[in-house]
Amino acid sequence: MRPSPIYVICRFNDIPSRQAMGFRLMVVDDHGNHRPWSIIVVRWGKKVLGYVNRCPHNGVNLDWQRNEFLDPYGIRLMCGKHGSTFELGTGRCVEGPCQGRVLTPIALAVLDGDICVVGVHLVEDDASANN
Ligand code: FES
Repeated sequence: MRPSPIYVICRFNDIPSRQAMGFRLMVVDDHGNHRPWSIIVVRWGKKVLGYVNRCPHNGVNLDWQRNEFLDPYGIRLMCGKHGSTFELGTGRCVEGPCQGRVLTPIALAVLDGDICVVGVHLVEDDASANN
């Protein structure tokens, strides 16, 4: 069995506590094709949570401005298009047009002070990963 791939996304301290940050990455699918993969990483104290940056309502990115992911109270993720809000811990939509649906979670780990994505093959070329 192949070991799970692990990719460093950023330093843990790059994201202040109670903030969310977006990353535009590229994944390698089962056929070797590259496709864009936009994710949200939330830091809450010592915890980090990750979700695919895709609203279950219309499939758009949640942020209406770069790295604007939280609701006005700073306690839920919010979609900028129609205002659905999502619990941070579960990704479940608790208010708005996609109520009851969930964001797709991403496995993250903090290793040696770095936030890492686990179990997904990424394209390692920084130039393409940040576009
Ligand atoms: S697209 Fe996100 S709430 Fe409609």
